[in-house]
Amino acid sequence: QKKHKVTIVGSGNWGSTIAKILAENTRANAGLFEEEVQMWVYEEDVTIPKDSKYYDKAAGDKPQKLTEVINKHHENIKYLPGIALPSNIVANPDIRDAVRDSTILIFNLPHQFIGNVCKQINGHILPFARGISCIKGVNVTDDGVSLFSEWIGDGLGIYCGALSGANLAREIAAEKWSETTIAYDPPAMDNSRAATPRTGSPNNAAAEIPEIELPHKDARGRTSSTKLTAMPGDYPPLDQDCFRTLFHRPYFHVQLVSDVAGVSLSGALKNVVALAAGFVDGRGWGDNAKAAIMRIGLMEMVKFGKEFFGETVQTATFTESSAGVADLITSCSGGRNFRCAKIAVEKGISVQEVEKQELNGQKIQGTTTAEEVNSFLKARGLESEYPLFTAVNDILLGKRQVDDIPNLMQDS
Ligand code: NAD
Ligand code: 13P
Repeated sequence: QKKHKVTIVGSGNWGSTIAKILAENTRANAGLFEEEVQMWVYEEDVTIPKDSKYYDKAAGDKPQKLTEVINKHHENIKYLPGIALPSNIVANPDIRDAVRDSTILIFNLPHQFIGNVCKQINGHILPFARGISCIKGVNVTDDGVSLFSEWIGDGLGIYCGALSGANLAREIAAEKWSETTIAYDPPAMDNSRAATPRTGSPNNAAAEIPEIELPHKDARGRTSSTKLTAMPGDYPPLDQDCFRTLFHRPYFHVQLVSDVAGVSLSGALKNVVALAAGFVDGRGWGDNAKAAIMRIGLMEMVKFGKEFFGETVQTATFTESSAGVADLITSCSGGRNFRCAKIAVEKGISVQEVEKQELNGQKIQGTTTAEEVNSFLKARGLESEYPLFTAVNDILLGKRQVDDIPNLMQDS
């Protein structure tokens, strides 16, 4: 039987942390997974500071490729400094090469970059691969709002679940205990090798390996065709157990659920609430004000899910899972969105300015999500029904002040 090949698309603070978890588990489960884990890195030059243990006198201050530094020192010195990465992680700057022949694709990068990345790999992945999106954000277009798990899955013609939880990356990278929620509920894969070949079907499991016409088109509308070297039935099933084995660590406990929409929405919307928590904390209003923000925020998250994703969303995902209320609490305590918003109020500068000054290239997601959610609500005349989401966007735009928050929340 073939083993699953795992690729992580993304290598930021969370991307590198998840790569560490997966590489530990592929090493520990050699019968199920190829030990080597591919990590796609958006290539950039880094300069190793003189006081770093990796400083090389011969190279001096010459900029080096981040991928080369990661592969040599097994540390992502820019996005996850101080954390040793397992040596079976291979940093790869070539996205198509990184995803080639992978049966498991983990998408983990700031949401503004996912569109371009998917364009590059469309038609270059196994049609029966399965994905998990660790992205916290929603995809808003003129037509409406969709989840990145859906959007990635539809765009690439594969099934994609979602992982989200109370997961501050730096704590998990240091192996401090936490929980996470994985929503993964794929259609059953037909693994009987007697099944009739169905061209283009991601669930195809034929006795003969056919020339499969991938259901993808490139930018010029041409369809790609790939000669597969294996079929789904050649691999262990890509079921919930497989993903539990891949993600669960003694310090990272996994709860598997089926509510992909609830998990994805919770992770996206809590970032907007975390900004509000940072705003009131920055004004020095204390824990009661922050708790009020969390209460109102949670209500708006549930309302948004129910209103726009209907019956597919379960309220319990917001109120009981790590992806929901637990992530809201941790994000409003020590998340980057919270910290940037707090510093912005304290210093009297914009959140975006703080992000640039403080995060060394890391990206917060709440600012774009607040804007995207607002444009979606505004287009439907629903801004007043979501006073907290609306207030956050208005404060970011300078149309409202933090001091307006109590009045704006009057009826919440
Ligand atoms: P990050 O903010 O640490 O890093 C930014 C990443 O974006 C880097 O890997 C950088 O190489 C990459 N990048 C920059 N420009 C790019 C471009 N043009 N194209 C593609 N990539 C580019 O990222 P992160 O923390 O790993 O966040 C990924 C996702 O995980 C986000 O949706 C975030 O909300 C979520 N998340 C983060 C944490 C956390 O604690 N960091 C925890 C849970 C979830
Ligand atoms: P920030 O991006 O605000 O740091 O949130 C991290 C997170 O999602 C914790 O679960």
